[in-house]
Amino acid sequence: MELKVGVLTILATILSLLARVHSKLCALEPLGSGQDDTDQVEAAIAECGQYGELVFGPGDYNITRKMSWNLVASRVDLYGYLNFVPDIQYWLNPDNTYRVVFIQNQASWFVVTGHDFTIDAHGVGGIQGNGQTWWTYYANRTREDGDGRPIAFTLSHVSRGLVKDFRIEAQPFWCNTVADSEDVVYDGMYCNATNTDPAYFGQNVVPNTDGIDTFRSDRVALTNWDITCGDDCLAIKGNTTNLYVANYVCRGGNGIAFGSLGQYVNLPDIVDHVEMQNLTLLRLPSNIQPNMVSGVYLKSWTATVHGVPPTGGGGGGGYVSNVVAKDVYVDQVTVPLHLYQTNGGNSGDTPSYLQFSNLTFVNWSGTSLRSKVVDIECSANAPCPNIQFFNFNVAAPNRTAPDYECVNVVSESGLPGPCNVTG
Ligand SMILES: *[C@@H]1O[C@H](CO)[C@@H](O)[C@H](O)[C@H]1NC(C)=O
Ligand SMILES: *[C@@H]1O[C@H](CO)[C@@H](O)[C@H](O)[C@H]1NC(C)=O
Ligand SMILES: *[C@@H]1O[C@H](CO)[C@@H](O)[C@H](O)[C@H]1NC(C)=O
Ligand SMILES: *[C@@H]1O[C@H](CO)[C@@H](O)[C@H](O)[C@H]1NC(C)=O
Ligand SMILES: *[C@@H]1O[C@H](CO)[C@@H](O)[C@H](O)[C@H]1NC(C)=O
Ligand SMILES: *[C@@H]1O[C@H](CO)[C@@H](O)[C@H](O)[C@H]1NC(C)=O
Ligand SMILES: *[C@@H]1O[C@H](CO)[C@@H](O)[C@H](O)[C@H]1NC(C)=O
Ligand SMILES: *[C@@H]1O[C@H](CO)[C@@H](O)[C@H](O)[C@H]1NC(C)=O
Repeated sequence: MELKVGVLTILATILSLLARVHSKLCALEPLGSGQDDTDQVEAAIAECGQYGELVFGPGDYNITRKMSWNLVASRVDLYGYLNFVPDIQYWLNPDNTYRVVFIQNQASWFVVTGHDFTIDAHGVGGIQGNGQTWWTYYANRTREDGDGRPIAFTLSHVSRGLVKDFRIEAQPFWCNTVADSEDVVYDGMYCNATNTDPAYFGQNVVPNTDGIDTFRSDRVALTNWDITCGDDCLAIKGNTTNLYVANYVCRGGNGIAFGSLGQYVNLPDIVDHVEMQNLTLLRLPSNIQPNMVSGVYLKSWTATVHGVPPTGGGGGGGYVSNVVAKDVYVDQVTVPLHLYQTNGGNSGDTPSYLQFSNLTFVNWSGTSLRSKVVDIECSANAPCPNIQFFNFNVAAPNRTAPDYECVNVVSESGLPGPCNVTG
């Protein structure tokens, strides 16, 4: 639990610093009657966002253009919602969003930067993403990475930040991202991308509504998360180190992802020291969200380059190591534990050089939709050493015996049965 101790130290630092500041107080109320609140929110942040305190009273604050907060030694109490008005054509104009998330050239409509701050939404406020308008608009249109759909909440270049008890309703695209940051704690996060348009019942019209993507960040903690989405409920991307995850619930979607890694040929992706515990992955009714694909899955591109990011790529190196996932419960997931290194590739590609090693899976329970409950297919060019299991008991369907598959695994221990080379 050394990561956990580190996280508590960060929290103590932020809180003791905040106790000494707050010379200024800005209190806001929504303007109401359909008015635009962006000006008053920006003015309050300019006035109190550094060495001050802001209190947003309950209600909706309409935000009609991109907004960034630079918070320094400050505190924000958000008892209402920042309501991002869903003018799709406006937001799709690249000039109208920030492009601070380098990977895949993603767009952000709201970016927080700075250091030594707390944003506390007390479980009653946060962001209204108005996603249904977006999901319906995109249901019959092409969706791809970097297409301009905005990330709901972006933390970029943050050090020592705490986000607490924050709610994001109906994220149009990724719910959160943390990039180029260190010592960030998110304690209490709710995201919910649930289609309610009957025209699309039974389909996943909420792809790319990831709970969070972490990128180029060190010492991040995600505790007490509840994510409903149609994609990765957590995506650990390149240069995420010392990530601590606890009490994380994923409802529907693809599961908890490492990757995709190795998309950028000139940028090695390093993921080192990830500790996750108490993960719950729950399948939703299939008319609401048909997918609950994996518990935890790890993936890289091949070593062959196919086009360029954001949609193409491959050929990137790096490694993933020192990962622990313990106390994991999976409810009718398709493939509970999956590792593959062929994302975006073709047969005949050069196998990836990005290596996965030192992966430990402790105390897994629940049910799988298929008999193959573990499917670890490492690259021939980077076989995986030191894959360990303790108390891994995920049941296969209909009381059949579970299958375990290991390909290019150097050493494995602890599964209840043999991990066959081909399953
Ligand atoms: C504020 O939001 C409400 C609800 O989404 C909307 O009806 C209204 O038009 C918005 N006002 C502005 C100025 O965008
Ligand atoms: C979009 O697709 C859905 C189902 O796939 C269909 O019911 C709907 O009519 C389509 N909408 C448009 C505008 O084409
Ligand atoms: C997510 O939103 C849907 C639709 O509003 C709702 O039915 C569901 O209960 C919500 N999920 C959670 C976990 O709150
Ligand atoms: C595990 O996570 C769930 C959901 O977040 C929470 O209710 C429960 O208290 C956690 N268990 C422990 C032992 O922390
Ligand atoms: C990750 O860090 C390594 C070592 O500092 C660096 O060479 C690499 O470019 C970084 N990759 C990304 C995706 O930033
Ligand atoms: C194993 O995991 C289950 C479900 O996630 C949890 O309830 C239980 O406390 C864990 N047991 C141990 C010994 O950690
Ligand atoms: C994997 O674990 C071993 C044993 O603890 C350690 O020596 C090695 O450095 C680790 N590999 C990486 C890439 O961190
Ligand atoms: C399990 O049994 C159900 C009901 O008989 C059947 O529909 C399903 O295909 C079976 N699953 C497997 C993997 O055999």
